[in-house]
Amino acid sequence: MIELHQVSVTVSLPQAGRKPIAKTLLSEVSLSLAERRVAVIGANGSGKSTLLRLLNGLVLPTAGRVLVDGLDTATQVRQVRARVGFIFTDPLAQLLMGTALDDVELSLRDQVRDKAARRARALELLAERGLADLAEQSVYDLSGGERQLVSLTSVLATQPELVVADEPTTLLDLRNRNTVVAALCGLPQQLILATHDLELAAQADRVVVVDAGRIVADGAPARTIDCYRRLMRDDRP
Ligand SMILES: Nc1ncnc2c1ncn2[C@@H]1O[C@H](COP(=O)(O)OP(=O)(O)O)[C@@H](O)[C@H]1O
Ligand SMILES: [Mg+2]
Repeated sequence: MIELHQVSVTVSLPQAGRKPIAKTLLSEVSLSLAERRVAVIGANGSGKSTLLRLLNGLVLPTAGRVLVDGLDTATQVRQVRARVGFIFTDPLAQLLMGTALDDVELSLRDQVRDKAARRARALELLAERGLADLAEQSVYDLSGGERQLVSLTSVLATQPELVVADEPTTLLDLRNRNTVVAALCGLPQQLILATHDLELAAQADRVVVVDAGRIVADGAPARTIDCYRRLMRDDRP
């Protein structure tokens, strides 16, 4: 269960030779997210990534509180991060090691202490996603779709309670998009994802529409996606 209580995020933007300007990225957002699949949609720069990054303490609220299963992201970030798996748009932002195998092994380091057993388990997890043959290839030589699947495998290896994915399919072609969507939709965990893929958003149990740092629509996909389409036509809902 995710709770945002009156959350605002403000940053100070430095200005050459002048006083910094305060910019509000999110404004008094309150949300309780308990649905299995929640999509966050909104224009570029509307605040989707800021909202998602709040959920694992990558961004902290300037005002208000963010709770993940009752844990405050401002004071219990380690426990929060252990619960929340975060998938980035660009998997290279996520993959720390040179190969898929090393990366998944790294994710398993707390769970499987024995090195040989850890390697075997990492290979097993990669094989479950059809990535066994790519295990020892440089992550830089993988296709975007393969990289995103490796990233997902690595994040899931930490056994998160919930998965947050920030535009996980934006960089992918249709085939890879479909593979990654199938993998994400098959997860038993709660999934919160930001996307411009309205077909994907339509499959969610709940859609949250963000505009200029505020929630402007929230609820069933058909109505909220329609609000977003109207908003993008500059015809306010
Ligand atoms: N650390 C930051 N410092 C200054 N501005 C930021 C920072 N992070 C995001 N922004 C700005 O906040 C707005 C919302 O960004 P973001 O949450 O990334 O939107 P989205 O993911 O919907 O495209 C954008 O105008 C972006 O430039
Ligand atoms: Mg973003």
